[in-house]
Amino acid sequence: MTDALSFPIIPGALTATEIRQLVGKDDPVIIEVGANCGQTTVELLKAMPRATIFAFEPEPRAIAKFRNTIANPNVHLYECAIGAVNGTTSFYQSSGAEHLLDYREGWDQSGSIRRPNSHLKVWPWVKFEKQITVPIMTLDDWGRQNRITKADFIWADVQGAESDLVEGAARFLRSSRYLYTEYSNDEWYEGQITLNDLLEKLPDFDLVRRYAMDALFKNKRISPETSGAIFPRNPAVALIDEGNALEEKGRIREAMARYEAAVEADPQCARAHLNRGNILLAGARFDEARSAYQLAITCDSQYAAAHFNLGNLNYRLGDLELALRNYQVAIGIRPDFADALVAMANALDGLGRTAEAVESYERALVINPGYAEIHFNLGVLATTQGRYEEAANSLRRAVEIKPDFAQAHHNLGVVLGHLDELDGAEESLRRASSIEPESAEFVSDLAMILLLRHKSPEAVKIVLGMLGRAPTWETKVTFARCAARTRFMIDGPEIRATLTTAIDEPWWTPYELCQPALSLVLLDQRIARCVRLANGSWPARLPKMALFGSDGLAALAADPLLHSLLVAAPVTTIEFERFLSCARYALLETASSELASDSAEIAALKFYAALARQCFITEYIFDCDDKERTAAAVCRAKLLALLNLNAVVPPFLVLAVAAYFPLYTLPDPRRLLDRIEPGPVEEVLCQQIREPLEEQALRAGIQCLTTITRGVSEIVREQYEQNPYPRWVKLPVRDDQAPHFNDELRRMLPFGPFTPMPDDSAPEALIAGCGTGSHSIIAAQRFRGVRVLAMDLSLSSLSYAKRKTQELGITNIEYAQADILKLNEITRTFDIIESVGVLHHMADPFAGWRTLLSRLRPGGFMNLGFYSEIARRHVVKLREMIAAHGYAGTLDDIRRFRQDLATQNPSVELKWLSEMPDFFSASECRDLLFHVQEHRLTLDQIESFLAEFGLHFIGFDLDPRVLRQYRVRFSGDQSGTNLRNWARFEADNPDTFAGMYRFWVQQPRSK
Ligand SMILES: C[S@@+](CC[C@H](N)C(=O)[O-])C[C@H]1O[C@@H](n2cnc3c(N)ncnc32)[C@H](O)[C@@H]1O
Repeated sequence: MTDALSFPIIPGALTATEIRQLVGKDDPVIIEVGANCGQTTVELLKAMPRATIFAFEPEPRAIAKFRNTIANPNVHLYECAIGAVNGTTSFYQSSGAEHLLDYREGWDQSGSIRRPNSHLKVWPWVKFEKQITVPIMTLDDWGRQNRITKADFIWADVQGAESDLVEGAARFLRSSRYLYTEYSNDEWYEGQITLNDLLEKLPDFDLVRRYAMDALFKNKRISPETSGAIFPRNPAVALIDEGNALEEKGRIREAMARYEAAVEADPQCARAHLNRGNILLAGARFDEARSAYQLAITCDSQYAAAHFNLGNLNYRLGDLELALRNYQVAIGIRPDFADALVAMANALDGLGRTAEAVESYERALVINPGYAEIHFNLGVLATTQGRYEEAANSLRRAVEIKPDFAQAHHNLGVVLGHLDELDGAEESLRRASSIEPESAEFVSDLAMILLLRHKSPEAVKIVLGMLGRAPTWETKVTFARCAARTRFMIDGPEIRATLTTAIDEPWWTPYELCQPALSLVLLDQRIARCVRLANGSWPARLPKMALFGSDGLAALAADPLLHSLLVAAPVTTIEFERFLSCARYALLETASSELASDSAEIAALKFYAALARQCFITEYIFDCDDKERTAAAVCRAKLLALLNLNAVVPPFLVLAVAAYFPLYTLPDPRRLLDRIEPGPVEEVLCQQIREPLEEQALRAGIQCLTTITRGVSEIVREQYEQNPYPRWVKLPVRDDQAPHFNDELRRMLPFGPFTPMPDDSAPEALIAGCGTGSHSIIAAQRFRGVRVLAMDLSLSSLSYAKRKTQELGITNIEYAQADILKLNEITRTFDIIESVGVLHHMADPFAGWRTLLSRLRPGGFMNLGFYSEIARRHVVKLREMIAAHGYAGTLDDIRRFRQDLATQNPSVELKWLSEMPDFFSASECRDLLFHVQEHRLTLDQIESFLAEFGLHFIGFDLDPRVLRQYRVRFSGDQSGTNLRNWARFEADNPDTFAGMYRFWVQQPRSK
């Protein structure tokens, strides 16, 4: 016997037109059991106007609607239930959906003579609060009384009482041709039988078509000849059924051949055209698919599935308006077409008609409340609108219905993260990852939640596993973000190699990986011992043998992670800086010695080269006493003498000099370039001679857009000509496509209120005060299609920025020299203006802000960064100390200041400074503490400016953990935009804005 469960499921449901084709005549006798308000009766009459229909319905509300709708002499309504007995029975009357126009008196479509069971879980909004008594009879007895012994077609929708109908209709069924009924393999109603059991109860019938919730049975004892058909049975139908079965097995070509044969057998067969169209669409043969669907519609203009599929074709081709019209027609024909309502909602959403999309999803849910994807889509929609509570509810519903719905678990996890429900977020994301372990996105999002929960080692572990399988850009960035928060306690080759690559390539700004990398480096006890010894004897320098012992230098020589770190960013711990200072002294000792270098030293050439590069990066900020300075000067003189003699230059001599003076400052430095073999020393020459010379050459070609204001602008420029900011070497270059501006801003500030940029396909951005270019390079990669003008006062900064931009292959940045205060001399305007760490270095920061505003387009966005008065309280004290001692902003005085500070008793200020990356290179330290001009702002001042210029505050760029704390305290300000609250928060947490007040604002489109 057929196993109904392995019978392929056809999408949709049987249409009235198909029933007409099946019965092969336009005047069949049809029994309609559970006619409800006559929806199907109307359809049947449309397809077969001469049909005789015997309809049965016991539900009083539905009966009233039926009588109002249908007044056809060939339709006979019997106000009773059909079942296995005659007399009366309890009827479980449904309710719910009272808010809908058609169901003011309650949902009348689910009443049953059987008690509801899982129906209550699947459709919880459908209630069964009332029981009434209704008449009931068997179909056989009704037939006997009315002298009707058979039907061409029995259409049944008896809400779980399928077995009752069949039991009371043994005789009637024997001589009837088709039975079409709803079924469920889940017990929606108590005692409801499965499709297999139903088939067993119908020995005369074959299951010929199975839909998701309906099944068609054909009486195998009645041939078309004996059925008295007016027309011969349509041969196309059998061919299509065969084609469906083949398609189900993936035998597409053979299926297509059947459909084509069906078209040939009956060119008017709409279903044959539709099936052809579906295969053509799947093969992306769009024009042919369109013709096939249009033929289907020509054959049967009321064929809802054809309009629906044509809509899908248009949707796929991006014509959402046209698709929407197709869906509307399909729904007009079949108002209960849930898939079409969903598709319509998707199209409406794509057209930005969100409210209508939600309404359409909700209509589909009324028809099919168990449709998990609709709950999911509603969840996605609510998420994009920042309605997270609502989104979570929809997504929870989706996973209740479909527990293996991985994407829904994932989205729920992300939404719960936004809602600060981190337990739930972790659980949902773990579930998503366990269902789809290969999804890099799921792992990344889980890792980010683990980070928020202070579980960074586990986060690193799971991302490391993912990297091996899917080394996507997203996974790399996630790894780096997790690693940045981790201090490693366990060493291992895999984590070392991965962190080395993360710094080399890099996947994240390397200075953020410095401390995690150092934590690994120091797990090598040989290196840890050297660092301890150097610090123990500080400030005295130990002789190299005492510093390295027997195996320290070998360990340093064999540590690629350390080498990568040294050449990528300033090392940002005082202990390691002191060790490196001592190692530099050991290098000087080697270079000054008349003895030949030993094999351990030769093996350590790479380490020493990396150390020399570190010294250049930090701009020789390491402590250096007079004796050491003299020894370094002797080496420098020795090197120059060898160069003048055209003699061979020993590599250790070059490295020692490069560790104390930038090599481009030697007279005629190019001479060195030809003397050195490729290798680590050559890389030092590249860093210290080739690249600076390249910058010099680029400097002349930088255009000047404005004049420069006398006074503060000039002295600020002078500082940055001598000390360009920031001091960076490597930046990540993403290898995936950047998101559009609106999407990225929404991602960064999920609760931020803003009006999206109307067209964000190619925004123009100004980076005002771009410094050495890390800001402009990051901005140029952050938004899809963005074009950047980056300007600054300092030509040294701009030439570094330009060289690095070219080196990284970035082409959407234009550099120019200009003074922000003179930007009214140009006519260009921008969609986005960013100015971070700049305006507070002007005589009047608000004058600079106003000038920038004049260059911002209506509706444009600004990203600003200002010093906070509170967060910089330590700087205020330190600046007072600097002034009192008369330290100048020169390299010598910066070194002296750092050294003096370190020898004092440990102070709060020293502790604070030691955690600031800017403390570890000369230019950045000058910017941090010795600036020629700085203002610090309060949130009050910022708020007043925003109010005066009608700017909308969108949100702060802050660590998500800080935002969480804020939201916990000010739960009424989910968007985090109330600056008064923030002022209170900052008063209690004075380091909140240690990295400046960084925020986004929007200028209204019209004032
Ligand atoms: C601290 S740096 C910040 C660089 C960059 N925005 C960043 O965050 O990496 C400040 C920069 O602002 C520039 N600057 C200061 N006043 C300026 C002005 N009036 N016009 C243009 N640039 C200015 C300086 O030359 C310097 O490069």
